[in-house]
Amino acid sequence: MITPLNAPEYVRHEGIKKWVAAIAAKARPARIVWCDGSKEEYDRLCAEMVQSGMMIKLNQEKRPNCFLARSSPDDVARVEDRTFICSATKEEAGPTNNWIAPAEMRTKLDALFDGAMAGRTMYVVPFSMGPLGSHIAQVGIELSDSPYVVVNMALMTRMGKQVYDVLGTEGEFVPCVHTVGAPLAAGQKDVVWPCNETKYIVQFPATREIWSYGSGYGGNALLGKKCFALRIASNMGRSAYSANSPGWFAEHMLILGVETPWGKKYHVAAAFPSACGKTNFAMLIPPKELQQQGWKVTTIGDDIAWIKPDAQGRLHAINPEAGYFGVAPGTNQQSNHNCIEMLSSNTIFTNVALTDDGDVWWEGMTKVPPAHLIDWQGKDWTPELAREQGVKAAHANARFTVASTQNPVLDPEWDNADGVVIDAFIFGGRRSTTVPLVTEARDWAEGVYMAATMGSETTAAAAGQVGVVRRDPFAMLPFCGYNMAEYFDHWLELGRSLAQAGAKLPKMFCVNWFRTDENGKFVWPGFSENIRVLKWMLERIEGQADGAEHVFGITPRYQDLDWAGMDFSLEKFTTITSIDREAWLKEFELHAELFERLAHGLPPTLLQIKASLESRLG
Ligand code: OXD
Ligand code: MN
Repeated sequence: MITPLNAPEYVRHEGIKKWVAAIAAKARPARIVWCDGSKEEYDRLCAEMVQSGMMIKLNQEKRPNCFLARSSPDDVARVEDRTFICSATKEEAGPTNNWIAPAEMRTKLDALFDGAMAGRTMYVVPFSMGPLGSHIAQVGIELSDSPYVVVNMALMTRMGKQVYDVLGTEGEFVPCVHTVGAPLAAGQKDVVWPCNETKYIVQFPATREIWSYGSGYGGNALLGKKCFALRIASNMGRSAYSANSPGWFAEHMLILGVETPWGKKYHVAAAFPSACGKTNFAMLIPPKELQQQGWKVTTIGDDIAWIKPDAQGRLHAINPEAGYFGVAPGTNQQSNHNCIEMLSSNTIFTNVALTDDGDVWWEGMTKVPPAHLIDWQGKDWTPELAREQGVKAAHANARFTVASTQNPVLDPEWDNADGVVIDAFIFGGRRSTTVPLVTEARDWAEGVYMAATMGSETTAAAAGQVGVVRRDPFAMLPFCGYNMAEYFDHWLELGRSLAQAGAKLPKMFCVNWFRTDENGKFVWPGFSENIRVLKWMLERIEGQADGAEHVFGITPRYQDLDWAGMDFSLEKFTTITSIDREAWLKEFELHAELFERLAHGLPPTLLQIKASLESRLG
C-alpha cells in the first residue's frame, strides 16, 4: 500500500515531494506528517509522547512545560565506531574516519531502510541551520520516525514551514533520513524508547546526504547537529575553496561576546571536545570584582560555529543552531547559574533522575542528594545505593534540550544574519598533566599546530572508555567530514590567504582548565574564574598585557593575571603553568604518531613547526 503523501500547499518544491514519496515507498511508514514548527504541533507531540510513555510530564509548578525522556540503556551517547564518511575514496575520508565505499553502503542502507518505519509516523521536518535566509545559513529536511527527534529539532534549530519560503520551488537542501530502526507489526505494542542494536550514522559528502539508522539519541538522531552542521558543513566549507574564495570553516566551537571595561565588545570562538565545559564557558558569569570592573559575557552559541571571511578578510561567525543540547551532570548554581535559570521552564530532559515531587536531579546539582529518586533507568535510587553499588541517578551523558531564547545572557546578535566578527580563537583539551593553563600562539600557523595536536581525556559524550587521552585535533576528531590532514591545510591556507590580503587575523590561544594535583583534584577552579584568562587574552590583543615567552608561545606570569577577589597562590599557579620537559618529550612522540597517521597530505608547515618547537625544548 502506498502511504498518501498529503503534502501541504505551502510546499511548492517538487523535488522535496518526490524525495519524501521515494523514502516513504522504501521505509513504508503508516502515515506522513509534514511539520510546520507551530507551538500547537510541539504541544500535541509532547502530549502524545506523554500518552505513549516516551516522555514524563514534570511538576508543572516547579518546571512549567518541561518533560523527561528516558532512553534505552543501549542508546545513551554518540556511536563513533558506527559513524561513516562515505566519500568516493578512503583517502578522502582520511585515516580518522570510518569509511565504506558509497555503493556498498547504499546497498546496506537499502536493506536496512526497507520497511524500517512500518507502523510508525514519518515526520517531515524542515529546518534552517543559521538565521533564516542568512548567506551563511543552509537548509535541511529531516525525515524521522521519532516524535522525540521532532520536538528536539524544534528546540535546536529554526524549524518550521517558513523554511519552505527560503527554498521556493527549487532551493537546495540537505536530505537527512532517520529511523529508529524498529518497525511495528500490526497490533504490536510499542516499547517506550524504540531503537535497534544495529546502528549506522552515515554521511555521503559528495551528494550531501545523511542517513541514520537504529538510534534515537542526540547527535546520532538530531541530524542538523553533528552530521550536518559539522560533518557535511566542513565538507561544504572546504569545497568552497577556489581561486576566488578561501572557503569557510564549520567548527566544534562555542561563540561568546565579551563586554569590557574599556567599552569595546569582543567575540571569541572556542573549541573544546564534547563534555569539556563549552556550555558553561559560553554562559560564564564573572566574579563580583570583575563584574564591577565592567566584564560581562553573553552567548551566541555553545557548540558549533560556521565561520566565513568577508571582503575585508574579517571572519564572521554564526551559530547554526538555535538551542542547546547540553550535558546536565555537574550543572549547578555555582558552576552555571545562568544555565540553571535557563532550565527552569520549556526544557526536555533526557536520562536525568526524577524526584518524588516530579522534578529533576542529577549528580552535582546539589551537594546533598535527595533521599529518594527514580534513576535514569526508572529504578529506585537512594544515596545508600550510590555509596554501596556506585549506581548513578542520572546517566553521565544525561542532557537537557532548550531553546536559545531561554538563555538569560543570550547575546543580542545571536540571530544576526551576518554573524559576529571573531577576535580570538581558543583551543582547549581536558588534560590532567602537561598542558599549561593558557598559551598564546606566536602566529596563525603555530596556533593551527597547537589546535592540530590537541589531546584530551575522553568523556561520556561518546560510547567507549572514559578518561583515556586521545588526540582530538581542533576538538573535531569525531566530526571532521573529510581527511584531517587536508583539514589542517584548509586552516593554514585560509589564514594565509587572509593575511596576504592584509587582514588582521584573530589571535589564537590554547587553554587547559583541567590540571590536577597529586591527589587527582583540579587545581584551577575554572567556571567564573576563567574570565581572568579571557581578560588576559583580550588585553594581549590590545597590547595591554605582558607575558613570558617560552617554548610553545607566550603565557602570563603570575602578576599578569587579575586576581581581584580571588585567593590563588603562586605555588598553585606554578603547578598549572609549569612545563615539564620529560612530559613534553613524550607529548612530542604523540604528536609524531598523529602526524605519521596523517602523513598522506599533511602540510609540511606542521612538521617544520614541530621541529622548531622541539629544538627550542632542547
Ligand atoms: C555534543 C557532543 O552533543 O559534542 O555536543 O557530543
Ligand atoms: Mn559538541
